[in-house]
Amino acid sequence: MSESEKWIIQINRINGDVIIKKLQSVNVIDSNFKIYSRDDSIFIPLKQIIENLPELLNGYEFKIFEVQENDENLKDRKLTHRKSLKETLKKIIPLEYHNILPRAFDIIGNIAIIELNRDEQKPLRSYINEIGKVLLENHPNIKSVYEKASDIEGLYRTRKFDLIAGINNTETIHKENLCKFHVDIEQTFFSPRLAYERQRIANLETEFNSNGIIWDIFCGVGPFVIQISKLYPKSRSIGTDINYQAVELAKKNIELNKINGEIEFYWQDVKEISTFPNFTNHQNNISRFIMNLPEKSIQFLKYLPPFIQKEGSLLHIYQFNNKINPIQEAKEVFEKELCNSGMRLKEYKFSKVVKPFSPNNVMTVLDVIITL
Ligand SMILES: C[S@@+](CC[C@H](N)C(=O)[O-])C[C@H]1O[C@@H](n2cnc3c(N)ncnc32)[C@H](O)[C@@H]1O
Repeated sequence: MSESEKWIIQINRINGDVIIKKLQSVNVIDSNFKIYSRDDSIFIPLKQIIENLPELLNGYEFKIFEVQENDENLKDRKLTHRKSLKETLKKIIPLEYHNILPRAFDIIGNIAIIELNRDEQKPLRSYINEIGKVLLENHPNIKSVYEKASDIEGLYRTRKFDLIAGINNTETIHKENLCKFHVDIEQTFFSPRLAYERQRIANLETEFNSNGIIWDIFCGVGPFVIQISKLYPKSRSIGTDINYQAVELAKKNIELNKINGEIEFYWQDVKEISTFPNFTNHQNNISRFIMNLPEKSIQFLKYLPPFIQKEGSLLHIYQFNNKINPIQEAKEVFEKELCNSGMRLKEYKFSKVVKPFSPNNVMTVLDVIITL
């Protein structure tokens, strides 16, 4: 096999994020070349073919073809590598602080967010503006750099930010899984780290589609149900949130994504749902519930019974649990509260750790069928 022979895997655009994650997990993507798209397909250059590729991508359609390095599929797609944040910062920060430099940052739309809140990172505070400038210079799409200035807190699950470089504008448009979202990072909750989870939930609609309605109980700016509706225009969804700004942005996001299906967003405290007239038609008619308020979801289970379908409804419930045996803990806490709320567990469909949350806790999800 000559050095110049390469492979490209062609996949359906809808499955892009999931398959890229799977390929990354086995380290086969050739990062010397750009991943690119054409029509409904995404093309991913591979550095090698591994034997268990069919198992890894089981259930997904894909095609592999071999090309020469000078083939038109790769020509002009060679990447000149951008240095990592840490590498670039090493040039401006004294050597003694290199081991405490931030390795990564989050990007939401054209905003970069860094975190420098560990005690040992205090010496970096005097370089904070330089760090911001480096980010702006190296990433032309970034217009503002903010530093996290508090934890996620309060009823609306938001956090404070300090501007460290660029323009002071906390509103942006973030792209995720073929959708776009108006977000205000200070006024509303939004985590780009949930992109994969939201895609998983959206893809499940084929498996669990029913005649009922999907209710995202804590909808924020609407990313769960908008992604479901974009993929399955026949689905019907509602979203509720107590944060007025989030609901206003969610409504704007319906238009931004040219959603033709049925979605309604309501500014609503779920604790008062029984008094909300628009919900009387939804009695026994919710086929899927999404509960992403991990610190408190469990306390809201008691509001579900009037809406559960006779044959059962699928619930996606997120919690924060101890990183030692998190799924076992999630199930125990959930089952106890489900029983206290007059409902029954029919079947666990899926469970996993979604992401780390704090030194001792992780975020979990249970997909579970519940009945009365
Ligand atoms: C963790 S965020 C999730 C937002 C969204 N699902 C997402 O993934 O981006 C939780 C949301 O629950 C909302 N919330 C908190 N208490 C609520 C209540 N009693 N009724 C309705 N929404 C509530 C907050 O305003 C916040 O937007």
